[in-house]
Amino acid sequence: MLIDCDPGVDDAIALLTAMSRADLVGITTVNGNVGIEHTTHNALAIAQIAGVEVPIHRGAARPLVAPTMDAAHIHGATGLGSIELPALSRDVDSDDAVGFILDMARSVDNLHLVAVGPFTNIALALRRDPTLPQRLGGFTIMGGAAGPGNVTATAEFNVWADPEAAAMVFNEFPMLTMVGLDVTHKVLLGPAERDRMRAAGTPASLLAAGLLDHAVTVASEIRGCAGAPIHDASAVMAVLRPDLFQGRSHPVSVELHGPLTRGMTVVDQRVDGRNGTNESPANAHVLFDAQADQVVTEIVDAVIGLQVQG
Ligand code: RIB
Ligand code: CA
Repeated sequence: MLIDCDPGVDDAIALLTAMSRADLVGITTVNGNVGIEHTTHNALAIAQIAGVEVPIHRGAARPLVAPTMDAAHIHGATGLGSIELPALSRDVDSDDAVGFILDMARSVDNLHLVAVGPFTNIALALRRDPTLPQRLGGFTIMGGAAGPGNVTATAEFNVWADPEAAAMVFNEFPMLTMVGLDVTHKVLLGPAERDRMRAAGTPASLLAAGLLDHAVTVASEIRGCAGAPIHDASAVMAVLRPDLFQGRSHPVSVELHGPLTRGMTVVDQRVDGRNGTNESPANAHVLFDAQADQVVTEIVDAVIGLQVQG
């Protein structure tokens, strides 16, 4: 697994989940929730706290075309809530996230690319090597929604932050797994999960507990919910445990021009009555449901089970 991310509270829990349960060959960072310096610093700090040695490569500092926006109001000014981060003991392996993604796609058999931030690096990788989709064993994104958005009435943040990149991704990958808000809003971690992690007392679980403190507070204030959707960890779990998720394949396009709908993933759910299929070829397996309790337990167990290497 290679994770492209913009840590980010939920990205951080996704990284810890993958470090515990996946063969994580690398991390690439992108501008998104906060600026590239923070998302990159956070990825390095998360690996350091977890005691995991993993290649980390810095990526795009801004979207392809769109102005640079952020979600600091959700993730805090640094991107990891109010977590005190240690002084870093290492730096990134390179500033060429795109080159690293392409190198891994060419050299790692059955590589599963997981993108949980804006898709700028993925689009730039497609521009540098249009054969990328054929070199991967799988491609899963946290992004989009068949239903309502989060950053606007119609758009989900990762797509909205760089819609041109998202459009390239949906247009050029023949098939991807879309872990959108339709399913991530059903997988909520709350005070009970936070307390389980804090009680475990490992560096990774204490970090995750601190992040959940922030996420649960924000979820309560913004959504009036007791639990927080840890979107990116659900995307990682959809790769590790696809049996816990249900979806349908549909054609998906990204709106770029509508003043009200720019960044919307238009999921065509019309089915031709004659043959029971979509009117045009499906390019995304869109997840709509999950065994949420089991997914939550798997995420918490993974974080608690992450032992410091060496
Ligand atoms: O809309 C949720 C997505 O936007 C998540 O990936 C979160 O980290 C933010 O990047
Ligand atoms: Ca993210």
